[in-house]
Amino acid sequence: MSEIHPTEPISSPLVSQPDFAVPAELQAEIDGLVTHYPNKRSASLMLLHAVQGHFGYISREAVEWIAARLELQPINVYELVTFYPMFHAKPVGRYHLKVCRTLSCALGGSYELHEHFCRKLGLDPQAHGAQTTKDGKFTVEFVECLASCGTAPVMMCNDAFHEGVSEKRADEILGECK
Ligand code: FES
Repeated sequence: MSEIHPTEPISSPLVSQPDFAVPAELQAEIDGLVTHYPNKRSASLMLLHAVQGHFGYISREAVEWIAARLELQPINVYELVTFYPMFHAKPVGRYHLKVCRTLSCALGGSYELHEHFCRKLGLDPQAHGAQTTKDGKFTVEFVECLASCGTAPVMMCNDAFHEGVSEKRADEILGECK
């Protein structure tokens, strides 16, 4: 593993992962990814995907490790984690339901869809931010525009994209999550 450089403390909601260690297989994958770019910084997003793919989220320690690996400051990595909605700063459920709440979807029923999921899963529809069921199976979260505004309401379940989601279709999606 690369040595972690001294870093500035990060004041953020990133979850700590004290036992963070990069296994040899992931290290090899990351070493390969870095060689694909003319400068190390350009590999930032790919390293974030690789780390999240392995750990399920990007912890504070992971941000610091990636920054050290790419010879960046942690803030250079942290800003990517907070900017892109596909990255998670804390653990999420096995199935991550992301409901678009931007204007077209809001007008098309996304708030009702979000509430439907919350009620079905025993979560609070009024709560702010992502919520995860006690068994860790589902996380429900509002996100901003998913770039299919003409087919509202739009949502994602992990990487699967769903358009024009009715409550009936929402129940089917939950049923498909085994
Ligand atoms: S407003 Fe929902 S996809 Fe654009």
